Amino acid sequence: MITSNDLRAKYLAFFQERGHAVIRSASLIPDNDPTVLFTTAGMHPLVPYLLGATHPQGKRLTDVQKCVRTGDIDEVGDGTHCTFFEMLGNWSLGDYFKKESIGWSYEFLTKVLHIDPERLAVSVFAGDADAPRDEVSADAWFSHGIPRNRIFYLPKKNNWWGPAGLTGPCGPDTEIFIVRDMPDCSPQCSPACNCGKYVEIWNNVFMEYNKQADGSYIPLSQKNVDTGMGLERTVAMLNGYQTVYETDVFAPVMALLSQKTAAVLPEAEATRARRIIADHIRTATFMLGDEKGVTPSNVDQGYILRRLIRRALRFARKLELDSSVLLEAASIYIGIYKDIYTELFANKNKVLEELKTEMDKFSLTLQQGLKEFEKLRQYIQNNRISGKAAFRLYDTFGFPIEMTLELAADAGISVDTEGYEECYKEHQLKSQAGAEQKFKGGLADHTEETAKLHTATHLLLASLKKVLGDDSIQQKGSNITAERLRFDFNFPRPLTEEEIKAVEAAVNGAIQAKYAITCEEMSLEDAKKSGATGVFESRYHEIVKVYTMGNYSKEICGGPHAANTGELGVFEIIKEQSSSSGIRRIKAILK
Ligand code: SER
Repeated sequence: MITSNDLRAKYLAFFQERGHAVIRSASLIPDNDPTVLFTTAGMHPLVPYLLGATHPQGKRLTDVQKCVRTGDIDEVGDGTHCTFFEMLGNWSLGDYFKKESIGWSYEFLTKVLHIDPERLAVSVFAGDADAPRDEVSADAWFSHGIPRNRIFYLPKKNNWWGPAGLTGPCGPDTEIFIVRDMPDCSPQCSPACNCGKYVEIWNNVFMEYNKQADGSYIPLSQKNVDTGMGLERTVAMLNGYQTVYETDVFAPVMALLSQKTAAVLPEAEATRARRIIADHIRTATFMLGDEKGVTPSNVDQGYILRRLIRRALRFARKLELDSSVLLEAASIYIGIYKDIYTELFANKNKVLEELKTEMDKFSLTLQQGLKEFEKLRQYIQNNRISGKAAFRLYDTFGFPIEMTLELAADAGISVDTEGYEECYKEHQLKSQAGAEQKFKGGLADHTEETAKLHTATHLLLASLKKVLGDDSIQQKGSNITAERLRFDFNFPRPLTEEEIKAVEAAVNGAIQAKYAITCEEMSLEDAKKSGATGVFESRYHEIVKVYTMGNYSKEICGGPHAANTGELGVFEIIKEQSSSSGIRRIKAILK
């Protein structure tokens, strides 16, 4: 058996031996990126470097990145879709390109993981008006022994990756598949179809373009390689498992859920419910236990977290599982991952407390919903609940439609599910329009404006510490658009009017002092010794950048920043509010 620990260790060692620096997983909550809620790929935290900024650890990097993708949430319950997953990756920042990348992928798969080359198939970009047919990659695969009939040329829809937002680095990719021992689904069967014969395990993106807001592609100043391998899926394939739930990261939780299931249900239904619980509780554990952990709420990341926990609980009800079993599952995950993601263990109490609180809250919601349901029953006509009424139960009381359907069935009442769907879609379209608005900025832009706002966050943190006289204040989140900064920090109470004015004055004082901004690279240990602020997690002997602004602020940060604080203009706080318990949020602008 090959375990997830084996695969992580082998992957990092292989690329380390080939000159790659091992970097640690970034937080699940992206920094300074208003366009996405969660880190969705290993390349995501590396965007500035893919665009040409120098990375302090060099041009060859490798890591295992925590990722969350919630787009496929409705698919969870099948064998391969997860809302959380780990992505193994290696990068060339303007260093090696296609030939070396493909050679190493082939070597790693066949010599280190001992996959029979006969079981490998690949796809390459077929070419179009934006970029040529990728014969370089096809020839590279062929030279290693992949026969032409297992090299598939596919269009942009399949073999192009990125940008992650609307603009940014992207390019053709070559994808690597394990061929399962089953017949072709049709004469056209290829990795592009979803019949299950071809399982994608690795994606090597050759980032040579920067997509512009007008839809055109211009060559990047440097050619990069960005690869991503799905850890859970690959471990499943290597062990001959049908699903990721049989791998060592899930098996103990699946066993627990089976053992505690009290309900008598058809096996397929029970299995699906257990997979959904196992997936959602794992994702919730990682979100709560993240170094920038979020808590359940009604907006942004907190809302997704809330939905995951509530959905898990709903399926637990189906299986007649006590909510304490879900807490037990979270503890098991913390145990499984504690050496790889030390933050989970460090935040163990928080994870379990927040989970419990949210589950208790949801129980109350359900009780309230049940009361509303009873009231509703007295007014219904023709023994049928209208779509509007069902939607109101969901929208106003948080009562899931599935619960309404179950109760209605018990009471011999029907529900206008089509009408419900219509209301739901209308609502979704409205919120989607909001989400798209958010998306419009493209992936974190790195313009002069955002650099200045970023510099302002450093002055703000230093000023908060000074004015409030509290050295334990830390950055808990940051999000910058071209118009404003948003900064989260730990502080137990709202700031007073006077304090807000004093913080503003302090930042403006630092701007008027026209401090030159310098950047030095040093080890994390030296940064700590030098008195720089930042979150210290020294799992690797990392080299970091330290930005100094006169004697006012010294902070570990990836940049970019303005050259002098004098460039910033006038700083103004436009809002101070609560973000979550113990965390305050400031929104500010530069005029
Ligand atoms: N960015 C690519 C992906 O997400 C490769 O890492 O698949």
